[in-house]
Amino acid sequence: MKPRVLAALALAGLAFAPAAWTPGALAENKQLISGPGSTLTNAKCTLCHDNDHISRTRLTRPEWEENLRNMQQRGMPPLTADEASTILAYLSTYYAPGEPPAATADTLVASTTDPVRKLLDANACLGCHAVDQKLVGPGFREVAAKYAGDAGATARLAAEIRSGGKGSWGEIPMPGNSVLTDAELASIAGWVLGQK
Ligand code: HEC
Ligand code: HEC
Repeated sequence: MKPRVLAALALAGLAFAPAAWTPGALAENKQLISGPGSTLTNAKCTLCHDNDHISRTRLTRPEWEENLRNMQQRGMPPLTADEASTILAYLSTYYAPGEPPAATADTLVASTTDPVRKLLDANACLGCHAVDQKLVGPGFREVAAKYAGDAGATARLAAEIRSGGKGSWGEIPMPGNSVLTDAELASIAGWVLGQK
């Protein structure tokens, strides 16, 4: 569980009261088995709870389909049809009843040569943002349009991604991110501003 993300979702009207959350739970969060779609699943499915909700579960494909509908009812931001089918294929391969297949590279991410895209994947940004539509946060194209021609925009966006913030797009706050380096923040900000 990520408390700041939860606070943001609570304001978005999405969150729920965690039954028994302790700060120690974060450290124990295990990675999902690496395979095609694991990075996307991680980004979309860990906004509200740890990965171990998934890793301790073994379901058939129809049951995972039902689970995704259930998560949507619980407030998961909408998935595109492509995203839903990638996540469903991943879950029903690696978290099916029986022994899971051996881990392999997430070829769906490896096929992205765009380093910024990889950073967005790895830092759960895509759980709340898409390029061309609003999810919990503004669409990146909308952000680029708002700051077009603003010379200070790269620095401003880098700072907001680092510290989090609210008020520019509404009352839902964005949690901060202390893991990204200055160079990564600058390249993400530049990439966002380049979305036309
Ligand atoms: C908007 C918040 C939210 C998002 C996003 C979300 N979930 Fe959940 N999920 C919940 C809630 C609430 C529960 C029920 C309470 C609990 O077990 O913590 C739950 C429970 C579960 C459970 C049952 C856990 C168990 O031990 O019985 C599974 C499996 C699960 N989620 C999988 C997923 C998957 C897969 C995704 C991504 C496709 C996802 N969740 C995204 C809110 C969310
Ligand atoms: C829990 C949801 C959530 C996550 C995770 C998240 N954001 Fe946001 N983001 C938001 C919200 C909500 C806003 C609007 C905040 C506001 O109104 O100022 C926002 C705003 C932004 C903006 C516009 C800032 C501005 O000053 O106009 C950018 C750029 C951005 N986010 C990028 C990112 C990146 C990059 C990541 C990953 C490192 C990320 N976000 C992770 C919810 C999120």
